[in-house]
Amino acid sequence: MAIKVEPKPMPAVAGQDSVTLQDHSTGKKLDLPLLTPSVGPKVIDIRKLYSGLGYFTFDPGYTATGSCDSKITYIDGDQGVLLYRGYPIEELAEHSDFMETAYLLLYGELPTAQQKNDFTRSITYHTMVHEQLTTFYRGFRRDAHPMAVMCGVVGALSAFYHDSTDISDPHQRLVASYRLIAKMPTIAAMAFKYSLGQPFVYPRNELGYAENFLRMAFAVPAEDYKGSAVLAKAMDRIFILHADHEQNASTSTVRLAGSSGANPFACIAAGIASLWGPAHGGANEAVLKMLYEIGDKKRIPEFIKRAKDKDDPFRLMGFGHRVYKNYDPRAKVMQRTCREVLDELGVHDDPILALAMELERIALSDEYFIERKLYPNVDFYSGIILKAMGFPTSMFTVLFAIARTVGWVAQWNEMIEDPDQKIGRPRQLYTGAPRRPYVALDKRR
Ligand code: SDX
Repeated sequence: MAIKVEPKPMPAVAGQDSVTLQDHSTGKKLDLPLLTPSVGPKVIDIRKLYSGLGYFTFDPGYTATGSCDSKITYIDGDQGVLLYRGYPIEELAEHSDFMETAYLLLYGELPTAQQKNDFTRSITYHTMVHEQLTTFYRGFRRDAHPMAVMCGVVGALSAFYHDSTDISDPHQRLVASYRLIAKMPTIAAMAFKYSLGQPFVYPRNELGYAENFLRMAFAVPAEDYKGSAVLAKAMDRIFILHADHEQNASTSTVRLAGSSGANPFACIAAGIASLWGPAHGGANEAVLKMLYEIGDKKRIPEFIKRAKDKDDPFRLMGFGHRVYKNYDPRAKVMQRTCREVLDELGVHDDPILALAMELERIALSDEYFIERKLYPNVDFYSGIILKAMGFPTSMFTVLFAIARTVGWVAQWNEMIEDPDQKIGRPRQLYTGAPRRPYVALDKRR
């Protein structure tokens, strides 16, 4: 069923006033427009800065730089607010489901019952992968990290689905978007099965998105699979929490890759690679490793001390955030989901959960963390839930990637449809050698 996507016209940014920069070395002044958002801080439009004053800006890590005009996700880090298309994450986690949230992120509005049904059916009927792709897995060692497999397999999708790589064709963009959202759980489950030496499990069209994934991950041919509605609901909610998060490192990677006109499969593969980093999506795996390394509540002070020691590279994984200087709203929902999953699994007094909660209690009362506004982030509790569900730590970031594919795809489409869109090409502060003449080999000392 060809779904025609109506690109949302990008209204001119509401209202403009300006700021004046003065170069005290020349006395030259430059007025720069101040762009007004629908919510959040205003931004200074510096596009005329170089032509006007001959200067670049300098902002390593883009701590204060807006890269785009987006309508998808809004974060207020000081208040701990996260909105998907204006809807609070807590309300979506409570009342929505991942397919509805995916529609919302892609199209900007909550779907009607018919739209939700059509969208869910379209995604469901794209969950199978080209059978030839199964042989692609055979090239990996069984002990390959599943994120390495995800980078390779998703990047290779453009070799299987080149009929949806023309990014100038809105229909092909839509087909590629649906294929990516639909096939990520299948590809992820296949990476998990491959690492276990178990046969791949095909998706089932009568199952929901999250329960389909859990069945593909945990079913074996030797017996009928009995899924848990509580665990499927928890998985679905975890996908909602991880779906999008403004211009984070992996989303910015997808946008930058896409800005050159690269095909969507290559762009999403680039996003997966960026997400893998322990400072980003790899933190959920790192949190559990850290908790096991701490091992006992008695050792918490030793690790808190290390986290504060500038000469020690150790950081409290799952703590701190570039934007949130308050509790990550996703972490609160995650903590509640953790209890639900452990109760469902009959896991009471889980020592790792108890250790995590004690670590959180101590850290949140420590001046170092309070002063730097370091709070638990989305990754702090997710690992405990995922491990309890039966996933190895190596699969945690893979699950993050399944969910974040919806956000990446929505942001990628928004970038392509943005009339201001051009190839991303930052400048630099050059501190290397000034021009100098070549020195012949026999003249060098
Ligand atoms: C995600 O961007 C996103 O939105 C990401 C994400 C998403 O949904 O896409 O939310 C997902 O990636 C969550 C973050 C997961 N990462 C971790 O949990 C890894 C541990 N956290 C840190 O690495 C760190 O907090 C970052 C990377 C998350 C943020 O780092 P910043 O913004 O660059 O902050 P910073 O390094 O400038 O730290 C400010 C201060 C420093 O101390 P001072 O130099 O001021 O003395 O806080 C300290 C840092 O040393 N600090 C920490 C710390 N995080 C920051 N000290 C100990 N432990 C920590 N975790």
